[in-house]
Amino acid sequence: MKKGATIIVKEGPRELARAGAEIFASAAEESIRETGAFRVALSGGSTPRPMYRLSAQAPFAGRINWEKTSLFWVDERFVPEGDGASNYGAAKRDFIDRVPIPRDHVHPMFQVGLTLDQAAQRYEELLRALIPLNEEGFPTFDLVLLGLGKDGHTASLFPGHPALREERRLVVPVKGGDPDVERLTLTLPVINAARRIVFMVAGRDKAPVLRAIFEEGVGELPAQRVAPRSGQLIWLLDQEAASLIPKEVLHGGKG
Ligand code: 6PG
Repeated sequence: MKKGATIIVKEGPRELARAGAEIFASAAEESIRETGAFRVALSGGSTPRPMYRLSAQAPFAGRINWEKTSLFWVDERFVPEGDGASNYGAAKRDFIDRVPIPRDHVHPMFQVGLTLDQAAQRYEELLRALIPLNEEGFPTFDLVLLGLGKDGHTASLFPGHPALREERRLVVPVKGGDPDVERLTLTLPVINAARRIVFMVAGRDKAPVLRAIFEEGVGELPAQRVAPRSGQLIWLLDQEAASLIPKEVLHGGKG
């Protein structure tokens, strides 16, 4: 794991959700103050959903200038929004439909009528057009939210998959994961160009992979390849997830 990451451990999923909503609102306030906009890539999976729901409620929702906020996705299962597996559909029900965000500031990856490859290409064009680029041409999100799979995957970047080696493209098609479906995912150069990256991880079943990530330092697991070029990296964990991380790593505060 990259030096300089911050590890925050919260008691349980409820405290984790509050801490996540606090980081989301603070990042929005700071980004809008500094640049006039807040551009965030949302994670899929189940872990961030309570945090999304909180973000639509007081006091968090009122702190976010939704007019200046734009929502993108880190990854998406390539299914329509009504499908139970859709990350966009879940976020829409959890908070997007409950906050005053302009509809044209919400950018789902799945598009009816486009093939997977066309949608990947279209999303790349969208990112290049809407997000400030770094000197290498990669979009610089204000906040990227990530989850962690038991196998060390993050976004839809799975262990051993060629997508992990992508150095040029911003968005690539992938097949796999749970559910095992076609997906689109941001690539590592995009994730690592972000100003802030926050992993949210909860539950005992994630403890072994977290131990591996923190014990082995920089390794081959997809989540270990997340290392912001100049941004901030935060691991937001609950106690069960953090339970096997070496104490010296936790108590050092920084990984
Ligand atoms: C997706 C993801 C994926 C997810 C992890 C953790 O499948 O769409 O974005 O990377 O974040 O698999 O998922 P849980 O939070 O459900 O454990």
